[in-house]
Amino acid sequence: MKWMVCAALAALAFSTRAEEAATCAVTVEVGDSLYFSRKEITVDSSCESFSLTLKHVGKMPASAMGHNWVLTRSEDFDDAVTDAQRAGIENDFVKPGDERVLAATKVIGGGEETTITFDPSILESGGDYTFFCSFPGHYVLMRGKLIVR
Ligand code: CO
Repeated sequence: MKWMVCAALAALAFSTRAEEAATCAVTVEVGDSLYFSRKEITVDSSCESFSLTLKHVGKMPASAMGHNWVLTRSEDFDDAVTDAQRAGIENDFVKPGDERVLAATKVIGGGEETTITFDPSILESGGDYTFFCSFPGHYVLMRGKLIVR
């Protein structure tokens, strides 16, 4: 009987953790063309930390078809993307010290993946946020909305 209770508790703990992982972490796939697998990402403001994994499922190298994931306030997007594209691949196409960039992954190529973690409290509930790839020219198609609940 004791064993059964333990097993039930263990199962409960596991499912609770799995649910948290679903809302506090997302994976976005990219490939050898200009797309993000998600056009919209929702961040739950109750998450202690939020993890974003960018996974490049293509074959092309970062120098030719690199992608990153960069987050700004939508009002900062136009200016931030202009500077980011000029920053060079050595800076992962993010202007060093740019305060308009709230979070950013490095640039990755085919077969690579990278994860960043940030504190959702840096984001305003109901705020208007845009994520994009800052590899030159990609932002035209590679962009989406981030929503904070
Ligand atoms: Co890209």
